[in-house]
Amino acid sequence: MGRLDGKVCIVTGASAGIGRATALLFAQEGAKVIAAARREDLLKELCEEAAGLSGEMDYSVTDVGDPSAVVSMVKKAVDRFGRLDVAVNNAGIMDDNTAVADMSDEMLETIFRTNTFGLMYCLREECRQFLAQGEGGVIVNICSVGATHQTAGAAYCASKGAVLAVTKNTAYMYKNDEIRCNAISPGGVVTDIPLVMPPADEFGFSRTSELLNFSGELAMPEDLADAILFLASDQSRYVNGEEIKCDGGWTCF
Ligand SMILES: NC(=O)c1ccc[n+]([C@@H]2O[C@H](COP(=O)([O-])OP(=O)(O)OC[C@H]3O[C@@H](n4cnc5c(N)ncnc54)[C@H](O)[C@@H]3O)[C@@H](O)[C@H]2O)c1
Repeated sequence: MGRLDGKVCIVTGASAGIGRATALLFAQEGAKVIAAARREDLLKELCEEAAGLSGEMDYSVTDVGDPSAVVSMVKKAVDRFGRLDVAVNNAGIMDDNTAVADMSDEMLETIFRTNTFGLMYCLREECRQFLAQGEGGVIVNICSVGATHQTAGAAYCASKGAVLAVTKNTAYMYKNDEIRCNAISPGGVVTDIPLVMPPADEFGFSRTSELLNFSGELAMPEDLADAILFLASDQSRYVNGEEIKCDGGWTCF
């Protein structure tokens, strides 16, 4: 028996890295997964890969920074699988490590558009759906150790600090509606994120790299998917409003 048998789950940012590994693990655990991201070719490939697993997978081409696309993503889950039980809000991008005095308007807007506004658009639609169903629901937000430790630039760290705040706010607001909302904060994970991040700012990187030296061995996306599965499943039924750092002890110094 799978730990998510029959549960309808959305995973954003599912075309690569942590989101991809999570979508596959959820399907392996019996879930009906809507894999959401911007690149349709990669989402199609992922669905093909999931075809042999015990659950089901379909996709939604979604830019989480576009509120109308997020409405369509939740509608797709309900139209395709009849309801929504679990949402993993994972889509995110890195900044160029700039300290605040060097930060451009464009960097601030780009990072917040995906990491903060995008995640909050998702939360809004997911909670609306859970409340309409009246049977609760489970949310796992993918935050970062950067929310509390200075592992990236001002825009990224602030965007993830907001994710931590809205995780606790949502958990509190809907506690009596049986909606659980928790966060996972990865440390360093081997994913595509360094390939798509902008070139690092020299001063900012000289500051953040002091901390990178303490990170130790990096995680694989599957390590994160296992922790996300715990928070998505009933095994964490009494965990609410929490952040679990999944960083191999990096931030214990
Ligand atoms: N990799 C790390 O070391 C690390 C560390 C801390 C936190 N995180 C967080 O983990 C999450 C996943 O990152 P990853 O490392 O797997 O990165 P990744 O680049 O490998 O994957 C990110 C995924 O999000 C998608 N995405 C980006 N912008 C999007 C948008 N606007 N709309 C929809 N999808 C979008 C990408 O297409 C991709 O599928 C992010 O929120 C990131 O901030 C990663």
